[in-house]
Amino acid sequence: MKSDAARWNDRYQTQKYNNNHPPRELLRTASPFFPQAGLVLDAACGIGSNASFLLSQGLNVIGVDISLVALQQAKKQSPSLNLICGDMNAIRFTKNSFNIILNFFYLQRSLWGSFYDWLKPAGLLIIETFTQEMKQVKPEIPEDFLLFPQELSQAFSTWEILYYQEGWSTENSNHPRYVASLIARKPA
Ligand SMILES: C[S@@+](CC[C@H](N)C(=O)[O-])C[C@H]1O[C@@H](n2cnc3c(N)ncnc32)[C@H](O)[C@@H]1O
Repeated sequence: MKSDAARWNDRYQTQKYNNNHPPRELLRTASPFFPQAGLVLDAACGIGSNASFLLSQGLNVIGVDISLVALQQAKKQSPSLNLICGDMNAIRFTKNSFNIILNFFYLQRSLWGSFYDWLKPAGLLIIETFTQEMKQVKPEIPEDFLLFPQELSQAFSTWEILYYQEGWSTENSNHPRYVASLIARKPA
């Protein structure tokens, strides 16, 4: 069986995954909360479209992804990105390192506690990914990739929730996608 890295490398070598897309709307919603300077982690950054937007806002960004092919494309688009090819489940950062953590379309619940540790007090966590409603349009999608309704808002209920929404979106896609979107501030 192919490793996750090999499967993602294959995907990024196809047309479907290698197109750059505009930064996600949620980042524009979050931008008034960004500090003027600081360090950002983009967990599972893919080809770096979101990370590049944070760079353009004057922030330093570290992107981590398991796919070397994706990271090569990210570096080509944005040479100033700091990139680590590795498994988010194995990587560790020092506590209170980041001003912002991005986590788009890579659901790994076991990382949520680490996100708390790695963020500085009052740091921002920005998460967006699919929920169970996606099964209506894509029944074959693995259960592990899907949030339960309100799961994110409940998981981060002790944080300051600056924005939360669940709903259908056609952003950066021809197909409707049901997503949960969260912007939350770590308790100071
Ligand atoms: C659906 S893509 C999302 C990419 C990007 N966050 C975005 O929103 O465009 C999922 C990404 O997770 C990465 N990935 C999968 N498993 C991973 C792991 N264990 N550690 C780090 N990255 C992983 C894949 O290589 C892929 O780039």
